[in-house]
Amino acid sequence: MADGTLRVGVVGTGGMGGRHARNLAHRVSGAELVAVMDVDQARANDLAGECGGAVVFDSGRALISDPRVEAVLIASPDPTHADLAVACIEAGKPVLCEKPLGVDIEDARRVLDAEVAGGRKLVQVGLMRTFDPQHTALKRAIDAGEIGRPLLFRGIHTHWRVEEVRTAVNVIVNSAVHDIHSARWLMGDDVASVYTSHIVDVPEQPESTRLVLLQLTFRCGGLASIEVNLDSNYGYEVIVEVSGEMGTLRTPSLESPILRKGGGATRAVEPDWLERFEVAYRIEAEAWVRAARAGGATGPTVWDGYAAMRVAEAAERSLATGRAEAVPDEPRPALYGKTGSG
Ligand SMILES: NC(=O)c1ccc[n+]([C@@H]2O[C@H](COP(=O)([O-])OP(=O)(O)OC[C@H]3O[C@@H](n4cnc5c(N)ncnc54)[C@H](O)[C@@H]3O)[C@@H](O)[C@H]2O)c1
Repeated sequence: MADGTLRVGVVGTGGMGGRHARNLAHRVSGAELVAVMDVDQARANDLAGECGGAVVFDSGRALISDPRVEAVLIASPDPTHADLAVACIEAGKPVLCEKPLGVDIEDARRVLDAEVAGGRKLVQVGLMRTFDPQHTALKRAIDAGEIGRPLLFRGIHTHWRVEEVRTAVNVIVNSAVHDIHSARWLMGDDVASVYTSHIVDVPEQPESTRLVLLQLTFRCGGLASIEVNLDSNYGYEVIVEVSGEMGTLRTPSLESPILRKGGGATRAVEPDWLERFEVAYRIEAEAWVRAARAGGATGPTVWDGYAAMRVAEAAERSLATGRAEAVPDEPRPALYGKTGSG
């Protein structure tokens, strides 16, 4: 970082990796995209060409250990996250790791143990809603006491249509972790128990899922309901509402204007997360680059990713038992402070 510019390598150049790489190359100041890696080498080559000629690596580990790479963004599939994040920690390089921290609690625990053993926060987890202007406005209002003590979080997370058949476990670990993190962050509390129910997608495959519903209780008595609908048949939307002792806050959720025309009033809904959270991804990367250039980390921590995964794990247990399952209290390592998201 001789001239103060952070030289970043991106692992995984698909939908998310492509978006992050383009942001880092063209829209985020203080960063330079110097390396990319993807098992689909042609895709990595195309992106490198488009982003000013980054070096293309043939393995994630080689990219991480190369001295030209000062910080790493992990956007390869979920099963690769834990190994790559641990390799970054061991190399002492700041990393923005896409959610989730892995595919299960053991993966997340390995990343947590590695970071705690290193004694330094190096990982930011890609739970980007904490950078989304609609979400941060709501958080500011809660923190300013506008609704008093938060009592109930309601989260609705819809996809337009998901073509592949997904299991309830995959939906919880891969998608609902966003909502679980959002609930912890906005309620300012940890989850004590979770009850899971779901609607089967393909009748012959009882584990397939069209809609998952999580009901959470928090340690101080608050409640949450989280709905992830894979087939809303209208678009991608994240609606958040928090009711408190003195009022209720709700995100506007759509960016588009209302069109009144021909006897109707309509609003367009974004088709996917890349459009809905376009601004959040850029702000997230800017915050990451700023913190990494100053030698630190910011935003959602490994503890946050691990805490979300612990709730996801209890949600999986609840699916199997048909009962509410406890999320046992666990002391947070001193590295992550005493309370709140962090
Ligand atoms: N934060 C968010 O809002 C958000 C949204 C979507 C996806 N994600 C996460 O981002 C990650 C990538 O998702 P995506 O939607 O971009 O998927 P994608 O399928 O579009 O892209 C994944 C890319 O990784 C490559 N890849 C596969 N195995 C690899 C390996 N071992 N090493 C390096 N590259 C490999 C694939 O060839 C592909 O180009 C996932 O972990 C997903 O959970 C986060």
